[in-house]
Amino acid sequence: MSSGPAPIDPQASGAPETSGAGARPGDDAAAPLLRPAVFPTVALADHALLDSGHGEKLERLGPHVLRRPDPQAMWSPALPPSEWDARADLVFVRESDRGGRWETRAGADVPDSWTIDCGDARLLVRPTPFKHVGLFPEQATNWAWTADRVRELADATGERPRLLNLFAYTGAATVLASRAGAFVTHVDSSKPAMRWARENAELTGLPGDAVRWIQDDAPTFVGREVRRGKRYHGVLLDPPPYGRGPDGEKWQFEEQIVELVSRVGALLEDGPAFVVLSCYAVGTSPLAFANMLEELGPGEVEAGELALPHEGSSRLLPAGLCGRWNRTD
Ligand SMILES: C[S@@+](CC[C@H](N)C(=O)[O-])C[C@H]1O[C@@H](n2cnc3c(N)ncnc32)[C@H](O)[C@@H]1O
Repeated sequence: MSSGPAPIDPQASGAPETSGAGARPGDDAAAPLLRPAVFPTVALADHALLDSGHGEKLERLGPHVLRRPDPQAMWSPALPPSEWDARADLVFVRESDRGGRWETRAGADVPDSWTIDCGDARLLVRPTPFKHVGLFPEQATNWAWTADRVRELADATGERPRLLNLFAYTGAATVLASRAGAFVTHVDSSKPAMRWARENAELTGLPGDAVRWIQDDAPTFVGREVRRGKRYHGVLLDPPPYGRGPDGEKWQFEEQIVELVSRVGALLEDGPAFVVLSCYAVGTSPLAFANMLEELGPGEVEAGELALPHEGSSRLLPAGLCGRWNRTD
């Protein structure tokens, strides 16, 4: 794995440096370290963003090249249309607001699903009618950061770090954190996503009891864990803007995230602990993420954008917002 572009750091352009523990939100003199940034990207051998533009992206996932919509790609592609046509094995054709179908290029041989290697994990790629493929490569920076925290926590505490992965989807973060040594509680409301995550755990060769699998509404589960007095060393949250629990419970990011983050705070172990919050397509800002995470108490806060680098170019494709909170003692 290699690092991409350096963070864009306002401190480098003369913004006041802030640091220190014991900070209160809004207290400049003692504010936690705050570094709005484009998080450094982490390259994956089996994924490459070949080009983007005119509302689409062209990516290689293992041996196959996919072309699908991306509303953030508001510029002109670098490659000519003939190159996109020649390279795309699968093209997503939108049929409605909610989804569409994948068309295979004449002569291309693409199975319904295939596997790729992501660091220590083997993951199933399966193009779905929602244009997703079961993996968000822009999260690789969070997978790597989480694995580092898990190893540090194991050294610092002498125990197997407990990680709660909320809105955990197909479990890439779960599997990679488990490989790094965490005992992961994986929570998602969707039965197909849970099944897919278990497949990823099996493909990676995790032991059957490596992960605690919970199909539940994330806020409901967190409330239950708080009442049970459960504690975790780390919590990952990657909620969608809108979602549903398994019994139709409504999830709305902007209405519920503040309370959920605050409840997550009650689940954290005393001493070293961390939280990663990310979300795609929400109408908020990295600074709002930083301010929310500061309320977890003293700790280092970073917030910024997730992005995907293009192969052979310095252009970055924006891929959501992220905040990280880390307490080291
Ligand atoms: C954006 S995906 C997460 C992506 C994942 N973290 C990754 O990087 O691969 C959002 C997930 O939230 C789940 N979800 C939506 N509403 C939920 C709810 N109320 N409780 C639990 N999970 C929910 C969806 O089923 C979906 O799997």
